[in-house]
Amino acid sequence: MELLTKAVRGTQDILPKDSYKRRFVAELMLNEASLYGFKEIRTPVFEHTELFDRGVGDGTDIVQKEMYTFKDRGGRSLTLKPEGTVSAARLMLEHGLFNDVLPIKLMYITPCYRYEKPQSGRYREFYQFGVEMFGSGAPVADAEIICLAKTLFDRLGISNLTLEINSIGCPICRKNYQAALKKYFYENKDNLCTTCIDRLERNPMRIIDCKNLGCKKISQNAPNIIDFLCDDCSEHFDEVQRYLDRSKIEYRINPKIVRGLDYYTKTVFEFVSQADSQRSLVCGGGGRYDGLIEEIGGPFMPAVGFGVGLERLLLLMESQKIDIPKPKSCDVFIAAIGEEANLKSFELAKTLREKSFYVELDVEQRGLKAQLKYANKINAQFCLVIGDSELEKGMAELKDMNSGEKFEVSLEHERFVEIFSRLFGAKN
Ligand code: HAM
Repeated sequence: MELLTKAVRGTQDILPKDSYKRRFVAELMLNEASLYGFKEIRTPVFEHTELFDRGVGDGTDIVQKEMYTFKDRGGRSLTLKPEGTVSAARLMLEHGLFNDVLPIKLMYITPCYRYEKPQSGRYREFYQFGVEMFGSGAPVADAEIICLAKTLFDRLGISNLTLEINSIGCPICRKNYQAALKKYFYENKDNLCTTCIDRLERNPMRIIDCKNLGCKKISQNAPNIIDFLCDDCSEHFDEVQRYLDRSKIEYRINPKIVRGLDYYTKTVFEFVSQADSQRSLVCGGGGRYDGLIEEIGGPFMPAVGFGVGLERLLLLMESQKIDIPKPKSCDVFIAAIGEEANLKSFELAKTLREKSFYVELDVEQRGLKAQLKYANKINAQFCLVIGDSELEKGMAELKDMNSGEKFEVSLEHERFVEIFSRLFGAKN
């Protein structure tokens, strides 16, 4: 029976006391990104498994250990999106958006699924906000994305985040680097986990972001890609930094960042917070991925983007005691006694809502006392009581629930709305 009343491990229900916070954060991010020209997209929750095998990379932890993959009734292998970038790239190709003016700037909020060990800030179902810019290889595009990411955190009021950047080069500079890495890891092979031993030949860079503690320790002294960059990548990285410096965006170069997805090239970055004295938490990250579009069957098209988990943002905001504006409470509760009064209150409520007032009424036909109790509970600013005598007079008493002040108001719709609007204008 427990299975029926318990959400799946690593997933969360979002209750009314929290849903408005997500909405606030999501809207703020979408609005901010639209100031940079990003347009919203939505992609399906699942895609063909092959898309992630190819896009994210079949040597990554995500593909090897974390994907929710299943066969549908038609025998197709499908996977719940573990991230948003590859789907955005697929959408861009499928709909030929690249035939339009470049760059193409897309943004999204999407649920993602990863079979990871749940802990604070790490879930199996989580939401990502992401931005992707397709069609520009210029360093200023990287700087734009980083600047936008930084602005989002600032706008949300989040402090104490460190921006860490690195360049992981292109396939040309990576050849020498891979050789040096292989040599280093072969010398330390005995201490690697079995997955990483397998990665040694195929993709030794993946060992660097293995979560196994033994592998992590060995990786600390591994050669750094930044020492192997070709002239082109090195110049690109310098230029990105020039833009950041000019705009006084503080950062730290962390040569250990490689990111957990195979598609990255050149600039990579992460925003890191100190979750506690032991653990730092990556709140958002991104980078350039010039090879992805070709990898999934498109033309050569450089791209750069960023993704951030909504849950981690909210956790940070909570730990930093950042206030999120509460949704407005009820403007007026209409208490009604008797059948005719019920009809009148229903009609009045409709009229007021057409003017965008937040109105509630009693749907249970409870006694006056219970109705007023409810009005108090929902924190209604005003309460209007309509009974037989009010109907007869065509007038009723509107009570300001905070001050206790009372106003005689006409129940004639136009007059009522007029008085109510005036009263509200005065109050706000
Ligand atoms: P990522 O670093 O794998 O990058 O994930 C981006 C963000 O998603 C993380 O920084 C974190 O906030 C959140 N996140 C990841 N896994 C979890 C989890 N299990 N529970 C809660 N939050 C999580 C990407 O996915 C790239 N697509 C980002 C990107 C966009 N790169 C270029 N464009």
